[in-house]
Amino acid sequence: MNNLDHLDKLRELDPQGMLAVEEGFYQQLQQGVEIAGQSDLSKISGKKYSGVVFTGMGGSGISGDIITALAADSSQAPMVSVKGYRLPRFITKDWLVVASSYSGNTEETLSCVQQAMDMGATMLFITSGGRLEQLVQDYDSVSAITVPAGLQPRGAFGYLFMPAYLALAQLGLLAVKQSHIEEGLEIVKKLSSQYNRKVETGKNFAKQVAVNIGDRLPLVYGQEGYLAPIAYRWKCEINENAKTPCFWAQFPELNHNETVGWERLDKLTKDFALIILSRPEGHPRIRARVEATKKLIDNNLGKVIEIPVKGQSSFAQAISTLYTGDIASVYLALYHGVDPTPVEKIEKLKAELAKLD
Ligand code: F6R
Repeated sequence: MNNLDHLDKLRELDPQGMLAVEEGFYQQLQQGVEIAGQSDLSKISGKKYSGVVFTGMGGSGISGDIITALAADSSQAPMVSVKGYRLPRFITKDWLVVASSYSGNTEETLSCVQQAMDMGATMLFITSGGRLEQLVQDYDSVSAITVPAGLQPRGAFGYLFMPAYLALAQLGLLAVKQSHIEEGLEIVKKLSSQYNRKVETGKNFAKQVAVNIGDRLPLVYGQEGYLAPIAYRWKCEINENAKTPCFWAQFPELNHNETVGWERLDKLTKDFALIILSRPEGHPRIRARVEATKKLIDNNLGKVIEIPVKGQSSFAQAISTLYTGDIASVYLALYHGVDPTPVEKIEKLKAELAKLD
């Protein structure tokens, strides 16, 4: 294990600078807000949409999951997030299709975009280039928001998420309060100085999460609403940055199945670290379930790590909890001497599939 306070070692282990990307998360969110403000949505404004469908995969698709969950409390428009090749049959040309792909070349997303073009649907693209950007020349009913290139898609969350979220607000499809955005950004700003590499492990919660996971298999529990996609994001970031298996589930659904599964294999599950994303002021029945579940399964697990959400608004809670997971997953990589940036298996898979074309 590496000492996370040895700055030279951290630099050596992270030649492409994923930790610096995470340390700059606040600035990226701010730039995302600016990009949204400068975007030209004239081609897709002033229309009445039946709903919004997001299409995107992995680090680009998570924005759709989070926006859909946040919108459930504030939007009357139906919203769905599609992670695959096909849009559901109930999507008609009257829906707004939001396609998010950092590279602009992800085949599942392009397949949904093709389907939308065949239908004549109106679209919004969020991309840094690739095929998606080229398609803007060939199709009329589309606005594109182009974001800075050169990052890993998962490291470009602020660029991908903020413009999509704020564009929907601009189009009247989502209610977004300026004060909530300010609260979220303010908390992230504070956290980014607390989580900076220069802050030693004893005072740095993100480093502590990584050290507490250590060699255990992490399992992340979210809860219904926007903490479900945030738990999923934690899992994906631990997979991709720390190259570590990780699984996730959400309250209350997990109480109806997963909770029972802790009865066997306790030799194995003693090596699990359970990470619980909790909202102390959330639904009282969910709080009760979290406490009761901890009591039931505590003996079967190596470690329980609670992550209490920060802030009052859903937006602030979602974005700050996501941030803690993102940077903790990079520290977990560095703790184990793993370069957080490359995702060779994703690249190999894409290359393998390209051979079949
Ligand atoms: C890699 C990453 C992946 C990609 C996914 C889709 O950093 O996060 O999950 O996001 O393979 O590719 P893009 O984002 O280019 O559409």
